[in-house]
Amino acid sequence: MGNRESFGSKFGVIAAAAGSAIGLGNIYRFPCEAGANGGGAFFIVYIVIVLLLGLPLMVSEFVIGRRSKRNAVGAFKTLAPGSKSWPIIGYMGVIGAFLILAFYSTVAGWTLDSVFKAVTNYYQGKDLATIEEGFTASIDNTWRSIIWEAAFIFLTAFIIIRGIEKGIEKYSKILMPILFVILVILCVKSLTLPGAKEGLTFFFKPDFSKITGRVLVNALGQAFFSLSLGMGALITYGSYIAKKDNLASTALMVSLCDTLIATLAGIIIFPAAFSFGIQPEAGASLAFNTLPMLFNQMAGGYFFCLIFFILLAIAALTSSISLLEVVVSYLTEELKITRSKATTLAALGSFALCVIAGMSLQTGSSLKVFNLTFFDALDKFTATILMTIGGLFTVIFLGWKMRKSDFEDEFTNGGNVNMRLRKIFYFIIKFIAPLAITVILITQWIK
Ligand code: PFF
Repeated sequence: MGNRESFGSKFGVIAAAAGSAIGLGNIYRFPCEAGANGGGAFFIVYIVIVLLLGLPLMVSEFVIGRRSKRNAVGAFKTLAPGSKSWPIIGYMGVIGAFLILAFYSTVAGWTLDSVFKAVTNYYQGKDLATIEEGFTASIDNTWRSIIWEAAFIFLTAFIIIRGIEKGIEKYSKILMPILFVILVILCVKSLTLPGAKEGLTFFFKPDFSKITGRVLVNALGQAFFSLSLGMGALITYGSYIAKKDNLASTALMVSLCDTLIATLAGIIIFPAAFSFGIQPEAGASLAFNTLPMLFNQMAGGYFFCLIFFILLAIAALTSSISLLEVVVSYLTEELKITRSKATTLAALGSFALCVIAGMSLQTGSSLKVFNLTFFDALDKFTATILMTIGGLFTVIFLGWKMRKSDFEDEFTNGGNVNMRLRKIFYFIIKFIAPLAITVILITQWIK
């Protein structure tokens, strides 16, 4: 298999994995899901799921990746030699990553379009209705959408062709901390708007009667989506982590950063949305129309708006490269296709689907699957079905199929770290996580 690349430093690993986790899932998808699933009730469930299920699953993926040093499919082939069924988890991941990349790039296209609007000072002085109309008009404009989608997928492919360390690490390291600082500034501004309190109450005050099976499964899907789990992405990244790095503390850092960013997004978006009169169920409008309105109210708004959308596009990029890397590492290692060919193939395929996903959101479009727009169908199918089932079988694999000694060796770096924690994690991975995910998947069918 030749020499595999690995991440250059511990900070590089965290930055790359956090780069995969932090993206449009935090700033676009999280508010959409929280808004549509009852606000505070969703938030509480989400936090519990991240800690109880997300963190152990992330550790499992790192363990599987680093132990096998292979791609999402190859990892299961290596750790379960001769098995025909375990690698299916990996195949599901490769397909899932390919599908997510498609609709993810649609939203990333809006982000690039917003950068363009910010540069040209489009937002300045406009009221909410005009900004909303402009957003819809951009989506309805097929060529405009296609150009931004193509630009985003091209950038993703460009970085992937250049390889892991030179590409992924370099970009994540410096830019994510800057995004964090801007988010904190936005929080302060949003909280001082008139009517902000109502938004905060919506986001933080749980109404437990709102917790239904649907809310649980949506929170599970969102947690896995946001943490990049159940998709082979962190198995693939795990395979690039150096032997001396501490997997549990890396996973903890990544989960905390990701959850912090999603929480900040909620603290920014809901107070502002309530203050401007945008419904919490408004979907894409929450991020793409609320935020420009917020910038319009700020001193230096032009500058902040521009930097924010540029950084959001970069955050999306560090996530999309992890998606494309899942597909490309599979194609190069298992099917022996060259890196550049594999990248081109996967990128073009995803682009075709991305265009359809984008067009399915246009006014009056009939591109529907099971009554959902093609975009929503891709989103729901991957997040609430593929990722949750992928995650379920990943923890089952680690707990019931892989040798316990292999888990312990990876988790403790050969007996050097986390000796006590290993038992708790193993117990959760083996018993609690499979049970809890199964129960959540079942309760969604019960009212
Ligand atoms: N976690 C990314 C986000 O929140 O934007 C999206 C994502 C990346 C999902 C990689 C799945 C994945 F494998």
